[in-house]
Amino acid sequence: MRPVEIRPDIFWVGVNDRSTELFEGLWPIHDIGVSYNSYLIRDEKTALVDLSKETFTEDFIEQVAELVDLNKIDYIIINHMEPDHTGVLQRIRKLVPNAVFVGMGKAIEMMKDFYGVTENVKVVKHEEMLSLGKFTLKFLFTPLLHWPETMMTYVGEEKLIFTCDGFGGFGSLNSSIFDDDYEDLSLYEGEMLRYYTNIVAAFNRNVVLALDKVAPYPIEVIAPSHGIIWRKNPQRPIELYKKWIAYGNGEADPGVTVLYGSMYRNTERAMDQVLEEFAKANVPVEVFNVSGVHPSYMLPSLWSKRGLIVACPTYERAMFPSMVHALDIAEIKKVKNKVAAYFGSYAWSGGAKAVFDGYAERLEWDAVGGLEFVGQSKENDIAQIRELVRAVAQKSS
Ligand code: FEO
Repeated sequence: MRPVEIRPDIFWVGVNDRSTELFEGLWPIHDIGVSYNSYLIRDEKTALVDLSKETFTEDFIEQVAELVDLNKIDYIIINHMEPDHTGVLQRIRKLVPNAVFVGMGKAIEMMKDFYGVTENVKVVKHEEMLSLGKFTLKFLFTPLLHWPETMMTYVGEEKLIFTCDGFGGFGSLNSSIFDDDYEDLSLYEGEMLRYYTNIVAAFNRNVVLALDKVAPYPIEVIAPSHGIIWRKNPQRPIELYKKWIAYGNGEADPGVTVLYGSMYRNTERAMDQVLEEFAKANVPVEVFNVSGVHPSYMLPSLWSKRGLIVACPTYERAMFPSMVHALDIAEIKKVKNKVAAYFGSYAWSGGAKAVFDGYAERLEWDAVGGLEFVGQSKENDIAQIRELVRAVAQKSS
């Protein structure tokens, strides 16, 4: 895509990434892509806001060069040092040696550690301002959204805020960069939640603080560094964030996430009874096979729904490894305060339930119980599984 003017003299100069399989080497984006949004402000002084991933160096430089002679860039605002936004930094330094990099706190150390850049660097503090001429930038310190150095940049004259990872989402920008050009935003909002749970959720408390810092400023445009720009309804991403923050603090939607894995279908065969009980209780359910689905896709459900069923066999006196992987990711992302139960088959020795109990304790789940059964589930096992499911359903509706 070519540069797009988002306000007079303020341009999107981002790139779409449709070739990376795993964002951060972890999160699948092969089918949806992602955008790295950067912005150029043309004024008496010219500023670039955020950069791009190294793979896209040539595309990025081409975008910027279409609008301005690179030598005319005075400031490069580094809202966040993660290399999806700074991978082109060394190349830009060579092309524009006199431009001043502007960042907060640890960004300065990181510029040195990541790219060996120590000169022409300006350290700014929370609410410090930088005049470009007709526009004045104001920097807001929003640490851990998503790294410790992260800040946002507010342009008061346009009531516009560059939020970097904040309010960002997966999904390349297919036909437009603006919210008002899409009739249905469910795809981008869904990918925004996946991004939130995959990338940001572990720092939920810091997101609350970041929203508090942004709250006093009137906002007409939210311009993140991934995903769409919100100008028709800039309150929408803020409302979504407030809802998702609340999930991290114990609020939850009615419903249950069912994670299951099975080696020879002994655990899987009990699944029909599980789903039947939830249907009877009228509790919405999302089901994921941990052997085939990446945890990235489970996290939005885990984050937002009240209940959790963990169904998998014991594997060599411990838990089925694919389930351990899913639950490890849930633990890293602080999926707390669930009503949960475990069941699963074993061949000669149990062990998975003890592993489940460990997750439940560390993540402060209300564990209503668990059942290990040998081989195929018998009538008595099924009755106990139904009992567990009813207990989870009752607390998840
Ligand atoms: Fe988009 Fe935390 O980088």
